[in-house]
Amino acid sequence: MKILVTGGTGYIGSHTCVELLNNGYEVVIVDNFSNSKPDVLDKIKEITSKDVIFYEGDVCDKELMNKIFDEQKIDAVIHFAGYKAVGESVKLPLMYYRNNLDSTITLCEVMSSHNVKKLVFSSSATVYGSPKNLPIKEDFPLSTTNPYGTTKLMIEGILKDLYISDNEWSIAVLRYFNPIGAHESGLIGENPNDIPNNLMPYIVKVATGELECLSVFGNDYDTKDGTGVRDYIHVVDLSKGHLKAIEKVNSSNGIDYYNLGTGNGYSVLEIVENFSKVNGVKVNYKITDRRPGDIAECYADPSYAKEKLDWAAEKGIEEMCRDAYRFVMRNK
Ligand code: NAD
Ligand code: UFG
Repeated sequence: MKILVTGGTGYIGSHTCVELLNNGYEVVIVDNFSNSKPDVLDKIKEITSKDVIFYEGDVCDKELMNKIFDEQKIDAVIHFAGYKAVGESVKLPLMYYRNNLDSTITLCEVMSSHNVKKLVFSSSATVYGSPKNLPIKEDFPLSTTNPYGTTKLMIEGILKDLYISDNEWSIAVLRYFNPIGAHESGLIGENPNDIPNNLMPYIVKVATGELECLSVFGNDYDTKDGTGVRDYIHVVDLSKGHLKAIEKVNSSNGIDYYNLGTGNGYSVLEIVENFSKVNGVKVNYKITDRRPGDIAECYADPSYAKEKLDWAAEKGIEEMCRDAYRFVMRNK
């Protein structure tokens, strides 16, 4: 089977390509390197000893997308390409709406015209807004608090309408919780060039001495120790969920939604503590004000993914912390 992976040189995409290749799939990637680097392609090859077919370009470019579907016999698509920084989306909403919506609509149009109707889409737990109950189930009310989240919710709506209009589509919408960690080889992972927005990349940069001190955004939440609680999931576990989703869309029609999380919530201070212990490094931190827009607590009920996809996360917090640090140390 040949899978088109949009955004396949990005953080989650690259790990998913490794899993696909290791499981006998052929992989075609399209990426414009807006948030990734070409050397990821060499790393994927180094890990798997397999080649991918690569197209450099924009998923919003319909001519390019038609060319890819004309040249390759694509069986199904995993659509990662998109912008993902919450803060940036507040400052540049039109750029987010343009890229995330346009890429998805263009992709679906081209898929439709080539009669390829199996799609796995990267959504996010952000579509649950500020959940009233925990753990979060797929049928909880949906809302968003920033333009990035709204793009995900709008795309979920577009995909639902698409399925209603044409029941031949088979779509798996994956709502990720907080992916962290890296491939155990230390060859691929997440290492933003700018000052990181997310907790784990920030912790790593404090541990390596690139940044001085982690700001813990608030310790007065109604949580176990007052700091924010999230469902951190190892990126390799998350990637494996995509293979299960591909199997699902191959074997049935419809649209369905799956939480990909572990079901465990860790506080910011617990992450700092685990990271320090596992890696034997000190992480300086100070408590600061809450970050506007943050919620207190967010973790998944992953039982629907277990039941329908036969998928569950396997890696624990120690592996997530160890692998995140190893990747950055290897690639400093
Ligand atoms: P990433 O930025 O590392 O990867 C996205 C890739 O898509 C990058 O390689 C980028 O160059 C590419 N890209 C972006 N727009 C493109 C376009 N128009 N055409 C071609 N390539 C384009 O992000 P990631 O963390 O791997 O996330 C992948 C997907 O998962 C995104 O849709 C993101 O919104 C979603 N998601 C991520 C998280 C997270 O915390 N990382 C959480 C929930 C959902
Ligand atoms: N945090 C800090 N200091 C930091 C960074 C984060 O204390 O420097 C705290 C946050 O307040 C929060 C927790 O660490 O309590 C996690 O924050 P992240 O920024 O790592 O992750 P979020 O849960 O805020 O958001 C992430 C992605 C979103 C996605 C969401 C759910 O950034 O795109 O997970 O998947 F929608």
